[in-house]
Parts: sequence; structure tokens; C-alpha cells
Amino acid sequence: MGNKENNIKKPGFKTLSIHHGETFAEETGCVMPPIFSTSTFKHGNKDNFDYTRSGNPNFRILESVLKSIEDSKYCTVFGSGISAVTAISSTLKSGDKILCESNLYGCTVRMFEKVFKKFGLEVLYTDFTNENNIKKISYFEPTLIWLESPTNPLLKVLDIKAICDEANKLEIPVVVDNTFSTALIQKPLDLGATLSVLSTTKFINGHSDALGGAVLTNNEEWNSKMLFSQKALGLQPSPLIVGSLREE
Ligand SMILES: Cc1ncc(COP(=O)(O)O)c(C=O)c1O
Repeated sequence: MGNKENNIKKPGFKTLSIHHGETFAEETGCVMPPIFSTSTFKHGNKDNFDYTRSGNPNFRILESVLKSIEDSKYCTVFGSGISAVTAISSTLKSGDKILCESNLYGCTVRMFEKVFKKFGLEVLYTDFTNENNIKKISYFEPTLIWLESPTNPLLKVLDIKAICDEANKLEIPVVVDNTFSTALIQKPLDLGATLSVLSTTKFINGHSDALGGAVLTNNEEWNSKMLFSQKALGLQPSPLIVGSLREE
């Protein structure tokens, strides 16, 4: 007989989806977190909350759940998937080049083409299912690579690891929109991506009742940039986004 600790099963995906490390314990002993429907917090509280645009217990709970199922160090949540795309794009500057998989979600392309191009961002496209194009990444000299796999709408499946291996050699960050797979099927950060993006509106939410987005990363600098855009661009979600998640 092994000792008791060795017999404890590691929590699986379903458990991690509803339980997590962070607690915002309520002295009342409630087993479901209350919805912190407040814009402002009194100074001196335990978790240093001050204003919901820069942090609210409800969306910090969601961040904690998502990073536990994706096995990432950091997660930042947003008001929609497109807000998450905005947060990342807003870190780029005039003259930067974004190299995109040729089939991406239409509203992502619309944002790059109709909004960020106006600010001097160059947007390039390549078919990443073609191995030769992976070898040609250096030719484009991109600042950032943007993938989706499977893609929306064509459901193209990319070799994320092969693309990340090449990009990592060149020190180019790779973003993978993981909306269609979720961490249940695929963990882009484990395959070498710098950022994994989710429209939580889709399979993560599962009941078509709330828009949401998230960016996951193991990179501290990128995490700071995401937290900055969450509050500075007003991209934060509503506290209502996680009304059904447990506290511990
Ligand atoms: C792959 C992908 N990324 C991002 C988004 C945008 O998400 P949202 O509708 O939550 O803004 C969508 C929405 O359909 C999507 O399919």
C-alpha cells in the first residue's frame, strides 16, 4: 500500500474548470462567489482592489480558472474575444509587421485592416499549412506572428509547434487564437507560442449567454502589457462574467 498522498489523484480538466487556487473567501462561508457589482473599492482591502476597470474579484476568479486549465502562469480576461485581440494589437507600433495565417476570423482581419493599418501597422498573410512558408518566416521580418488553429471559418489545422520552433529561433512572438480548440484539446503555450487567445464567448462559456475573451501567457512582460491594456484601454469584462464559478 502506498502512502495516502501518493493515492490522491491529480485534479482533471473538469475539476480544474470549476475549482482553482485563488480564494476570495467570504466570511459568510458562501460556497459560490457573490457577484461584486461595484465600480469602486475602499482603500486598504486585502487584495488591493481599487476600481473595477483595473480589477474585480469576479474576473480575477475567471483568470485563475483559465490559467489552471491551460497550465499557464498568467491570464488576463477581457470583455470579448475581439477585446483580447485589441489588447495584443495595441502593443504594436507604426512600422511593425504582423504576419498572419491567410485564413483568420473575419473580425480579427477587419480590425487589423480597418483600424490598426491606419496607425501604420503592416499586415502580411501567408498560408502556414505550406511547410515552405514556415521556412520563409525570416523573409517577412515580422514583429509578431498571428495564428488560429483550427481556423475560422475554413477549419485549417496548422502545425503550431513547427511554426513556433522556427519563430522562436528568430525570437518572434507567436499568438495562437485557440478559441476553436480550447485547452481541453490543445495548449499552444506548450507548443512554443508566446500568447494563447480565447474568445470565451464560444466553447469556454458553453451557454451562449456572455461575451468574453482571454489572453494566456508564461511571459511576465507580456502579462504586464495585457494587464495594462485591460485597464488602460477599458477592455475589462463585467463582474457578471463569472457568476457561476465556485470560489475554491
Ligand atoms: C476564432 C475567433 N477568434 C475571436 C473571435 C471573437 O470573439 P468575440 O465574438 O467574443 O469578440 C471569434 C468569434 O467568433 C472567433 O471565432
